[in-house]
Amino acid sequence: MIFAWVGLALMGTALVSGAESQQCPGYKAFNVAETINSVTADLVLAGEPCNTYGTDLKNLKLLVEYESEDRLHVMIYDADEQVYQVPESVVPRPGSKGNQSREASALQFGYEESPFSFKVSRGDEVLFDSSASSLVFQSQYLNLRTWLPDEPNLYGLGEHSDSLRLQTNNYTRTLWSRDAYGIPDHTNLYGNHPVYLDHRGDKGCHGVFLLNSNGMDIKINQTENGRPYLEYNLLGGVFDFYFMAGPSPKQVSAQYAQVVGLPAMMSYWTFGFHQCRYGYRDVFEVAEVVYNYSQAGIPLETMWTDIDYMDGRRVFTLDPERFPLHKMRELVDYLHNHDQHYILMVDPAVSVSDNGAFDRGKEKGVFLMRENATLYEGAVWPGVTAFPDWFNPATAAYWNGEFDIFFSPNDGVNVDGLWIDMNEASNFCPWPCSDPAAFAVEDNLPPAPPPVRPNPRPLPGFSGDFQPSPSASSKRRSVQEALSNSKGTKIGLPNRNLIDPPYRIANAAGSLSNLTIDTDLIHAGEGYAEYDTHNLYGTMMSSASREAMLQRRPEVRPLVITRSTFAGAGAHVGHWFGDNLSQWDKYRISIAEMLGFASIFQVPMVGSDVCGFGGNTTEELCARWATLGAFYPFYRNHNNMDTISQEFYRWPTVAEAARKVIDIRYRLLDYLYTSFHRQSQTGEPFLQPLFFLYPTDSGTFSNELQFFYGDAILVSPVTEADSTSVEAYFPDDIFYDWYTGLALRGRGANQTITNVGLTQIPLHIRGGSIVPVRSESANTTAAVRQRGFTLLIAPGLDGTATGSLYIDDGDSVEQAATLEVRFNFNNGTLTMDGSFAYRAGVKIEAVTLLGQVSAPRSHLSEGRVYNATSQSITVTTAWDLSGPESLTLFTEPQH
Ligand code: GLC
Repeated sequence: MIFAWVGLALMGTALVSGAESQQCPGYKAFNVAETINSVTADLVLAGEPCNTYGTDLKNLKLLVEYESEDRLHVMIYDADEQVYQVPESVVPRPGSKGNQSREASALQFGYEESPFSFKVSRGDEVLFDSSASSLVFQSQYLNLRTWLPDEPNLYGLGEHSDSLRLQTNNYTRTLWSRDAYGIPDHTNLYGNHPVYLDHRGDKGCHGVFLLNSNGMDIKINQTENGRPYLEYNLLGGVFDFYFMAGPSPKQVSAQYAQVVGLPAMMSYWTFGFHQCRYGYRDVFEVAEVVYNYSQAGIPLETMWTDIDYMDGRRVFTLDPERFPLHKMRELVDYLHNHDQHYILMVDPAVSVSDNGAFDRGKEKGVFLMRENATLYEGAVWPGVTAFPDWFNPATAAYWNGEFDIFFSPNDGVNVDGLWIDMNEASNFCPWPCSDPAAFAVEDNLPPAPPPVRPNPRPLPGFSGDFQPSPSASSKRRSVQEALSNSKGTKIGLPNRNLIDPPYRIANAAGSLSNLTIDTDLIHAGEGYAEYDTHNLYGTMMSSASREAMLQRRPEVRPLVITRSTFAGAGAHVGHWFGDNLSQWDKYRISIAEMLGFASIFQVPMVGSDVCGFGGNTTEELCARWATLGAFYPFYRNHNNMDTISQEFYRWPTVAEAARKVIDIRYRLLDYLYTSFHRQSQTGEPFLQPLFFLYPTDSGTFSNELQFFYGDAILVSPVTEADSTSVEAYFPDDIFYDWYTGLALRGRGANQTITNVGLTQIPLHIRGGSIVPVRSESANTTAAVRQRGFTLLIAPGLDGTATGSLYIDDGDSVEQAATLEVRFNFNNGTLTMDGSFAYRAGVKIEAVTLLGQVSAPRSHLSEGRVYNATSQSITVTTAWDLSGPESLTLFTEPQH
């Protein structure tokens, strides 16, 4: 129902944030209707429009849904439903689940009618209160402000390279996908995750997700009176909030996964070590790197190739001289025969010259078009390019088709995973882009190799009979004709300035369209504007690429690593943090970035370029990074073309660091796999900041240099140059040194760990944990799976411990059988039970109990070995993981 708004009293006014301060009238609620699980109302503009950055919308609607016991959905949208909303095809909505009544909900919605504002509370605690300003809902600007508690602890709002706990004074987080070389702090980066976690210590934690893909500035600041607030400044879309009740940080994270989707499970091999670089000059050099890793005794699971393999940087082509197909297939076969893997990069932009992939796409009409039905062109690595329009219904079939041809297991490059890049989308041609050809980056090719490499060092079994094919013509072909493309009706309010909106977000690239796709382009299909959907480009390419990988090999879980992501991307892909630099600050911030993605945004398959991408690394930094990277879920060494080589074998110290830490990583691979699997099933994050496990210990709230790898392992890397020590925080609990086994009593204070050589990383097992470790490591993850287990029991302060182990075939999308067991240690007895359907074919060979300051008599009998140095007892076992077991480790009281 439409209300006459004229003549309503001007009831609340507020300052609009942004460049100009303006009085805006806010809205008044009418027709409020409440049911057992919902609230609806009409919101009518409460005075003269202020039209600050566009036109005030007069009639809005409110919809509040109690979607489950711990989730509340609050939407404020235009009554005519003309305003753009994030398409459900890209981010499916969770819908209601569980008990949806208001009474059963941990969260309560409250509101003021005039001026309209709303509150979300959990018990007595007000979690969100929009009375901090009057609501502004204009054609190109939306503003809503909530009060924050004094001294807020906020986390999230990615992608950024700022502190894990966000600054709360004069801080702006801009969300607008951007190719961000060097990942500068305080700028918008590659992806967008408009969700934050508000942690209030004893009073609990909650999450707020704003499902909106428009460009935005989220400001966190204080009023003149010092009262903290958080303010959304949006370029469009609607307010579509999901509140997650917590009350623990872990629960908030899991509840968020229920909204945006549980993360995709990854194959076992993907957790092995990956080597990559930009600038390998030919397939022989790639093969040499594989060989050199093997010679150095450093396990290499997966070899990668950057755009170097392409013919003139064109996607879906091979350079016939440097990376001829027969050699590429030989290399892939070699890797597969040695239980290793291969990954190639694919960029979205398709060269318009000399390229079958372009011709086929053009024929299908899948590229983005201008309003006048001419092809939209930009410039990326190969020069002039067209951009696939992921909204076009024909694009998925086109993409699948290109994968079928190029990555065909039968006669193409049979890759095991995919690396997708430049999908913000990046465009080197600055806006307005009148001559993309002028921005071709042709001098970026590595120096041409001689026709036949002198003394190529072949892999064993890699014949090296290199026959260069005739070079392909590099002549450019211009786009001859306008491409036809079916356009649906445009979605979103008409008459907007899609290029230069009146409110300017703090996009570090300047104008919205600069160095990306023009924001006034209208996508095919439903007719969405790039202005509204820019932030979805990378995530749409991600799901299309995952699908295409699945079509090729339907039975195995696809590994797709993308640069640009949006909320929910983790359900499809993993992410690396783009072009960092070989610097200590980037090494440090990688921890906060990883924790943001893995523990808040639910994209757990993440990691930074180990040893750094841009600039030259150093032996010291690379050694430290090799050890830190071993605790990223996605562990890959990668660097830029114009930098020194940084494969781990290049320096003796780095090689030793890598060997030692990969040994630990691989022995812990099933512990990682078990924890990662749990997150894919429940959303419970496995990588965690310290406050996730010690939420009432305020000493943990700002800690961003240590983290928990699973619930049981505390990682405390050295984070400074020229240092062999680390000030590590230990909460009030008991921890056991990974290397010595000795107990360390945490007191809620820093303790200095000294003598941490370059090849080491401090690790502690948290008391209360049982960690299954492979008794020894191996050269490939396939071989690791053949090793038996040792169970490490690290008793908590109460003397008990628990743990779990999940094993499946490691690769299949559908599992015929799985092994899922729980370990429990209580009163000296260890038990194992659960489901044993999958036969791992290996045994639990030993059990080691830590924390035994002396050897009670019972330890010395029945084959138990007491080790006074590590204060542990070890019992040899032969549990074949086929059914429940139990073992009494001691019967007498412990010291
Ligand atoms: C982008 C990627 C980087 C890659 C380079 C060349 O900068 O972020 O990882 O090496 O493009 O493809």
